Amino acid sequence: MKIGVLNSGGDCPGLNAVINGVVGAADKLGWEVYGFIDGFEGLLPKGCDYVKLTPDDTIGIAKLGGTILGTTNKGHFAAKVGEGNVAKIPADIMETARNNINELGIEAIIIIGGDGSLTTALQMNQEGFNVVGVPKTIDNDLEATAMTFGFDSAVTSVVDALDRLQTTGQSHKRVMVLEVMGRHAGWIALWGGIAGGAHAILIPEIDFDLDKVADFIKERESEGKRSSLVVVAEGARVTGGELITKNQGMGSVSEVKLGGAGDIVANHLHVKTGKDTRSCVLGHLQRGGSPTAIDRILGARFGVKAVKMIEGGKFGRMVSYEAYHVGSVPIEQA
Ligand code: F6P
Repeated sequence: MKIGVLNSGGDCPGLNAVINGVVGAADKLGWEVYGFIDGFEGLLPKGCDYVKLTPDDTIGIAKLGGTILGTTNKGHFAAKVGEGNVAKIPADIMETARNNINELGIEAIIIIGGDGSLTTALQMNQEGFNVVGVPKTIDNDLEATAMTFGFDSAVTSVVDALDRLQTTGQSHKRVMVLEVMGRHAGWIALWGGIAGGAHAILIPEIDFDLDKVADFIKERESEGKRSSLVVVAEGARVTGGELITKNQGMGSVSEVKLGGAGDIVANHLHVKTGKDTRSCVLGHLQRGGSPTAIDRILGARFGVKAVKMIEGGKFGRMVSYEAYHVGSVPIEQA
């Protein structure tokens, strides 16, 4: 049997661990694995753009950040258009992919992706492709799985950043504001902030009042605290306020780029408290680098599970993680 594997959307620590898990499990069954290059885009050139993957090819990759297959964020298959809006994959793109996959003799594809890529996976499944999904995103914002791989690595980088900001903030009696990723979800901010000892954590799920945050900082100062750490999720907003974006989406399938919330919070806190305040954007440091041990293990387990799902004919489903158990749910539910 020949199976395909691809990852799509933003990269995420642990992707290579999933690929490694897929290749190892497939090899045990005597299956061949085709890794498609640059996500769904690899399905489009005549004969497909792929590398054949054997256990020899994947030795040692589980510890590497990024993805050996490359990825594409928005391409010909982009199915998600901003919050809640879904575009249909064009029929000609779907047909080209179908013909190329059939010619190669691929019987099932494992799609490793976040909400956008899994929306594409769902549409492909509805069009008759044998598809299994694996949840991937540092944001941890997929329903129906308690955790996505990559999240722990992102949280770990937030904690590391806060540890560093704390010492310099403490030395200078400053308020240190750290803006973190997560799009419309506050998981990274909340987990990273709690683990890193932040004093205030602003997340998209709870609108906030900047004056109250300033009062809280002043109160800390009156208690003799030299510095304060504030974590701001990039998607956080003040009550009644707008999302803070770097630029508006370009074209119909782009999503807005979030960014700038940290600076706004820092400026306001400086004006309202009079305290020396600095802000720092952690950005893609949260996505790059080696996965944590948890993400390596989770990735491997997810990869193995995806192969087992194909073996059991469980198409149109996504690997899920619940209470330390790796199971599966319909992609639609995610
Ligand atoms: O979804 C993962 C994520 O890292 C978000 O947290 C962030 O808003 C976005 O991707 C950044 O995307 P890009 O790499 O395209 O700038």
